[in-house]
Amino acid sequence: MTHTRILVTGGAGFIGSHYVRTLLGPSGPPDVSVTVLDKMTYAASSSSLDPVRGSDRFALAIADICDPVETGRLVAEHDQVVHFAAESHVDRSISDSAEFVRTNVLGTHVLVDAAHRHGIETFVHVSTDEVYGSISTGSTAETTPLSPNSPYAASKAASDLIALSYHRTHGTDVRVTRCSNNYGHHQFPEKLIPLFVTNLLDGKNVPLYGDGLNIRDWLHIDDHVRGIELVRTGGRPGEVYNIGGGTELTNRELTHLLLEACGASHDRIEYVTDRKGHDLRYSVDWSKSHAELGYTPRKNFVEGLAETVAWYRDNRDWWESLRERAALPAEENVVGAPAC
Ligand code: NAD
Ligand code: DAU
Repeated sequence: MTHTRILVTGGAGFIGSHYVRTLLGPSGPPDVSVTVLDKMTYAASSSSLDPVRGSDRFALAIADICDPVETGRLVAEHDQVVHFAAESHVDRSISDSAEFVRTNVLGTHVLVDAAHRHGIETFVHVSTDEVYGSISTGSTAETTPLSPNSPYAASKAASDLIALSYHRTHGTDVRVTRCSNNYGHHQFPEKLIPLFVTNLLDGKNVPLYGDGLNIRDWLHIDDHVRGIELVRTGGRPGEVYNIGGGTELTNRELTHLLLEACGASHDRIEYVTDRKGHDLRYSVDWSKSHAELGYTPRKNFVEGLAETVAWYRDNRDWWESLRERAALPAEENVVGAPAC
């Protein structure tokens, strides 16, 4: 049996760690080993990798994808790359975008260039629906022109184009995935769902931006990870694959579901100043992933949300210390109220 050595960048973050736990878990392929390359920024969680730490098919390399020497050395020792590492939080890119350009654009360049030079078999670049920009109706296909708005989205769009340019120019087997908003356990408590749930569990209010009518499509982390594996194992070089969740909700609708799940009342919602340049709606058409790879989101949203809320309720140890790290809008976002 051929053994595949996979370098997973950003594997200590929310989606990357889930991917690694799945690959090395009981239902993962037996013929792969994984090295996580992660800088361990504020968004990383070392304990998210605890379940795989004892595996002889797992290794952790603490490094920066912008470092060409260390990144080149690690890439050279692997057959494939699955690239999650990024600055991922839109609000932070509005406050200060320098690190977004450095990691997302320059870091991706360092990585894909090393992949080309060392003859990597397959390079999966994990991207986002935000690169298509905001749409009020319909859904964006892989052929829709890119129209990113936030500095985060622009840095991701740039990284997609750099990665794809290596396929067109050098023939590197680059595959790009673009997914919608992920949710599930082990998500850093700065994104809407974990921020609101942990606020409610701590007796605080929840800060809803603007009128709360912006729409996101929610994708369970298990579905996303399955979609990425389908692309890694069955996708075509140079192709882009959208991965959607199939549950579109306004932020207000989602917040009401979260309040219900936490047994909290509606007066816990605090309408706050809108995000600058706040995109109204994203929606990806994932019919290509379905037709070519058999991808379909399977997780029922109500069930997935209830499991997620229960996980945060039962795993305070995991998120309490991380919340302290989430320095950005802590003061503005946090307002007192009775516990739920
Ligand atoms: P995350 O913020 O939870 O994790 C990012 C990880 O990357 C962290 O472990 C961090 O330490 C690491 N990292 C950051 N800079 C690095 C660098 N210079 N070198 C090495 N490692 C570095 O992010 P996430 O939510 O897990 O997102 C993973 C990927 O998926 C990102 O590329 C993001 O753009 C994309 N994405 C996320 C979502 C979502 O809903 N979370 C949706 C669409 C796409
Ligand atoms: O669409 C995919 C993207 O989803 C990913 O590429 C990003 O990495 C990921 O962070 C996420 O971006 P969003 O900006 O959509 O996610 P966030 O959880 O920050 O916000 C979701 C919605 O909720 C958005 O409309 C803004 C709103 N919001 C967010 C926060 C943090 C609030 O109303 N209040 C908040 O406190």
